[in-house]
Amino acid sequence: MKAPIIAIDGPAGTGKSSTAQGVASALQWSYVDSGAFYRAAALLALRHQVDLEQTTGRVELRERLENACIDQRMVGGKLQTWLDDTDVTGAIRSEAVTRAVSRVAEDPSVRSIVNQDLRRRVGEEPAVVDGRDIGTVVFPEAFLKIYLVASLEERARRRAREAEPGGRELDGALLASYEQGLAERDRRDRERAEAPLVAAPDAVHLDTTNLDLETQIARVVRMARDRMNQAS
Ligand code: CDP
Repeated sequence: MKAPIIAIDGPAGTGKSSTAQGVASALQWSYVDSGAFYRAAALLALRHQVDLEQTTGRVELRERLENACIDQRMVGGKLQTWLDDTDVTGAIRSEAVTRAVSRVAEDPSVRSIVNQDLRRRVGEEPAVVDGRDIGTVVFPEAFLKIYLVASLEERARRRAREAEPGGRELDGALLASYEQGLAERDRRDRERAEAPLVAAPDAVHLDTTNLDLETQIARVVRMARDRMNQAS
């Protein structure tokens, strides 16, 4: 029997990563952040100045990705992402990567390589995996699929707070620039031909606009335990 998988999908800033990590920790399952694989691919493209508008650029990125190793490790309760022998956990969160990643993720070859990596990474272990197409494409057999949503305003507020801890005031112009960045990424992720961001028909929708993280985690853990009890 295949190991159980929980898929958590949804747009940026809905709390996917924190929820997935909390659920994995509560169940003592592994956690896989699929977005970090796309971010590492985008970092590779930026480092080599690959032009994705050109066929030659897309071929180059595919070759570089095929010869690269993207890996994730949980160290001291924190997920690290590695690209070959370099820890890129911080580098993949840069503004440049965030701006480039959706364009990189549109490429079917990139998606196919990342999907193979994800399936290999999960292997036979029970896992919580978060992303955009986990319940629809990568692990359609997931026994629990969650689709997180939240208002654009709240998602922008969360992202601004993460990026400016104790720093700049969250004034209107700053929040508007985060909203614009998120809306643009949402649009690209939803409109792409390959594996667009969409809820699986059997996903449970959870609106996190007014939920705190503990509540989000507790709800998903309860659903997972209920389903496991029903199945046993
Ligand atoms: O953390 P955040 O929600 O900002 O995004 P992420 O999960 O790190 O994903 C970054 C980008 O990777 C997304 O905007 C998508 O373009 C792409 N992605 C994807 O296409 N499919 C996935 N399963 C995960 C991420």
